[in-house]
Amino acid sequence: MTNFVDAEESFKNYLKGYDLEDGNIKLKIKHTYEVVNKSEYIAKGLNLDEENTYLAKLIALLHDIGRFKQVEKTNNFIDNKDFDHANYGVKILFEDNLIRNFISFNKYDDIIKKAIYNHNKYKIEEGLNKEELLHSKIIRDADKLDNFRVKKEENLINIFPNKYNPKTINYEEISPKVYNDFIEHKCIKSEDRNTQIDFWISFIAFIYDLNFDISFEYIKDNRYIDILIDRIEYKNEDTKEKMENIRKCAKEYLNDKVN
Ligand SMILES: [Fe+2]
Repeated sequence: MTNFVDAEESFKNYLKGYDLEDGNIKLKIKHTYEVVNKSEYIAKGLNLDEENTYLAKLIALLHDIGRFKQVEKTNNFIDNKDFDHANYGVKILFEDNLIRNFISFNKYDDIIKKAIYNHNKYKIEEGLNKEELLHSKIIRDADKLDNFRVKKEENLINIFPNKYNPKTINYEEISPKVYNDFIEHKCIKSEDRNTQIDFWISFIAFIYDLNFDISFEYIKDNRYIDILIDRIEYKNEDTKEKMENIRKCAKEYLNDKVN
């Protein structure tokens, strides 16, 4: 079976076990289909052949399959040592053999497994072969591109798990390490984030972990830097000034990458 429509049908069947009225579940279903589209966009941009384009879409369809159990169990999307949604996805697909509901032969199992495992890690692990690395990069970029859409559209209360405070968000400061890392073109480590603004900056810093020219173009064409920065009103003078530096730094970085 290399028919994407059949794989989608199997995905719908898998979802039947979950509460489709739950807002968090709905959000992840939409995200999954959007990531499929973005993976296809990247694959076409890279001029991949039909088989690799199909594989990129299949990985996208399955990349967050572990999220549904995570929502059911914990009611949030926080990965930790007890539950990592990528590791859980790999487990049900390859230990419990759910993968055969989506693709009938095992030729691509290692690529699918490695791409899903690596999609949410801070860095891609060492030792992957060329195809495993390519598909890990595609899913990481596609996932991040769609995360920019989520951060633009989604209610802030759903974006800041257990943290959203509308009374304080406009007055918060930026933690020095978060600011310095951003200016040095580094992704933000989860544990360095303290304030809600730190979280917001960490989402924008995903531009530093994109792999393909076409991904940078996508961020630029959709004006995601301005849109995300302008979504919050900064009433703390220091934060306001630093956010303007962040805007400038991010745009210069994107311009360098695109040209
Ligand atoms: Fe994920």
